[in-house]
Parts: sequence; structure tokens; C-alpha cells
Amino acid sequence: MNRDLRQVDPEMAEILKGEIERQRYTLVMIPSENYASKAVLQVQGCVMTNKYAEGYPGRRYYHGCRFVDMAESLAIERAKKLFGAEHANVQPHTGTQANMAVYFALLKEGDTVLAMNIAHGGHLSHGMTRNFSGRYYRFVFYGVDRETGMIDLNYVEDLAKKYRPKLIVVGASAYPRKLEYDKWREIADRVGAYLMADIAHIAGLIIAGVHPDPVPYCDVVTSTTHKTLRGPRGAFILCRKELAEKIDKAVFPGVQAGPLMHVIAAKAVCFKEAMEPGFKEYQRQIVKNCKAFAQALMEKGFKLVSGGTDNHLCLIDLTNKGLTGRQAADLLEEAGIIVNKNLIPYDPLPPTETSGIRPGTPALTTRGMKEEEMRLIADFYSQVLDNPNDPIVRRKVREQVRELCEKFPIYEDVEF
Ligand SMILES: Cc1ncc(COP(=O)(O)O)c(C=O)c1O
Repeated sequence: MNRDLRQVDPEMAEILKGEIERQRYTLVMIPSENYASKAVLQVQGCVMTNKYAEGYPGRRYYHGCRFVDMAESLAIERAKKLFGAEHANVQPHTGTQANMAVYFALLKEGDTVLAMNIAHGGHLSHGMTRNFSGRYYRFVFYGVDRETGMIDLNYVEDLAKKYRPKLIVVGASAYPRKLEYDKWREIADRVGAYLMADIAHIAGLIIAGVHPDPVPYCDVVTSTTHKTLRGPRGAFILCRKELAEKIDKAVFPGVQAGPLMHVIAAKAVCFKEAMEPGFKEYQRQIVKNCKAFAQALMEKGFKLVSGGTDNHLCLIDLTNKGLTGRQAADLLEEAGIIVNKNLIPYDPLPPTETSGIRPGTPALTTRGMKEEEMRLIADFYSQVLDNPNDPIVRRKVREQVRELCEKFPIYEDVEF
């Protein structure tokens, strides 16, 4: 029982060592990734993983819940305070399961939902045909305007009037602009729909006030905890008091059984960290960094969907560079820069190839990098992607990436 991982499973210990080295010495630019703090990692690996606690604090189906009740209550209270919400459910294991619970609470099978087209930046839990959402509900989609790359709210309203959805979902995985929830509320009210914001990507920005706040305008808000919020891998739901019972019942016993108490405890820690003054400054810097990065890219001839960014990510349209998203992400990875390929709006290529990449700045900003480093990194992109047939360029950039990572160390005293 008391043996160390290295004794029990040296093979896995080596794999974990490799992963921490990768995280230390590459530039993590996937906008949905971040570095959870040592405190969050500690709690995520704690003994609460052993505890069954079906139900909610004070109303469990298992005994021995005194301490997990305290941990979950702390997480709930902190989430409510942080976002100014009337009710919080901190049990969803993932963002997709949070969304599933909301649909389960508010909809019947076959009901109509209006959401963002996945091909324009929406998420697969917003109605993709092969996801449960697209299979059990009737999704209709809005997208972005071909010219501006931005959501046209007049078009959203036309669709809402035409299809009379029971629920409107506002939120995205790859949209670089701000979402004005007050205007979405007006549309929802005109057609009598529930309004749900999925803030999985932008929760941290909202806390810092660098993105509009959905809580006053939406019936329900879902989020993950591991992206800009920088907590453990997981999710939560916020809602008005009137919907609290429906939401809680939809999470348990609707779509989940035993909650991951160690993760819920770690969510409480991440909410506490998000209340510290430095967190707001961190979020502001994420956006400043992303804007500086986007500007430097455009100066080097890169085309950005919507012509820039207001948040933590930008979407590069690579069609003028003669590269697909997959090719670009492969080349950058060879140079030590990790991004993901991404569809651009109206993309002629399939999701396995794509015409774009979606870099973001949350993880680099956690390392302490600022605008100057962003301009340097934009230069790395230009060197690598403007010389795709030159492996020496990639090798030289790889060396500079390593030097930059050494200047901004991360996880120095974290072993795995
Ligand atoms: C907008 C949005 N919602 C939900 C999710 C789902 O999160 P998870 O991967 O935890 O299911 C994501 C993840 O990328 C997302 O971008």
C-alpha cells in the first residue's frame, strides 16, 4: 500500500516524467489547456478519490460523508460568490456532461435548440449529429457571417422566430470575439426560449471583467474548470433558484451517479485561487497577450478570422499560406509549439485536415510571459510556416523555444 509509484510501476513513472518534461519545454498554445497549480494537483490526487457520495451535501445515499460534504459545500459557496449566481452544482464530471444535464433538465426528447454551428466554432455537445445532443434533440444552427467572421444577431433572431426553439445556447470553442448576453436575452425573450451560456473557455475572463457577464441574463450557465479558470479537469452549472431542483436532479440521478469528490475538492481550491487579486491581473494579461500575438501575426501576413481577437484565442486562416491546419500543427509541433488544427468558418476541408489552427495564450500567460514574448512567438510561427520545407528552420526554432521555456519555468517542484 505504501510503495511509491516508481516502485509499483516504473513504466508509468517514466511516462509521467515524459509528460511533465513535455509540458515544461514546449509552448502550450491550445487555448483550452492550462497549468493547474500545485495546490489543485495535490487535492486532485487526494484520498477523497476513495469516497462514494451519491446525492448532495446533507442528503447522501452513503454514510461517512462529513468531510466530503464540507468540501462540496465550500465549492458550491465559492462558485456562487465568484459568479454572483443563485445556485451552483459542482458535480458534472465534464463540460459535455454539464450540458447534457441542462438539456435533460429543460428539454424533452425532440425539442428544438438553437446553437452555434460546430463548423463555425460551436462545441460537439451543441448538437453534433454523432454526439448525444444531436441525436436526441432537434438542433438548428446559427454561424458567423462569411465576410466579418462574427455572429450576426439579426440572423440569430430570424432563426429563433422561424424555429421557436425551447432553448438557445450561446457559447463556443473557437470564437475570438465577445458575446453580448443582454442582446441574446432579448432574442430569447421574444420567442419564449430558455437561454443557456456555455462559458467553458471564457469563465476566467468573465470573473476578471474582461468579457461580458452572462449570469444576470441567462437562465443557466455551464462551464468547465480546467481552461481559463485553471482548475482541475471538470465542470459546473450555475442557475437561477427556480431551476435549482431541476438541474440538481438532472445531474444526479439524471446523468451521473457517484461524484468525483477529489475533483470537487480541487474545484473548491481553484475557485479560491480565482478570488485572489492576482487572478484578475492574470486574465487581463491573457487577453493583452493574445491581442499582441494576433497583431504580430497579422503584420507577418497571417490572416485571422474576424480580423483579430477580443479574448484568449485567435483563429488563423491558413489558406493564403498554402498549408492545411493539420500540416501547420505538425510543423509547429516539430518546433516545440503545440496548437490544434481547427475548422475555419465555411471550411472546404474536413475536420481531420482543416484550413486553420486555433492558438491561445492562457497557458503561456500562466508561465509569466508577456507581450514581448508573444511577438517573439509570432515570429517563430512565421519562420516555421513560411518555410515548411526547411527542417533546419524548425530545429533552430525548437532550440529558441527551449530557451524561452527555461526563462519561464513551470512545475519546478512538481514531480509528476
Ligand atoms: C464551449 C465548450 N463547451 C463544452 C466543452 C466540453 O468540455 P469537456 O471536454 O470537459 O467535455 C468544451 C471543451 O472544449 C467547450 O469548448
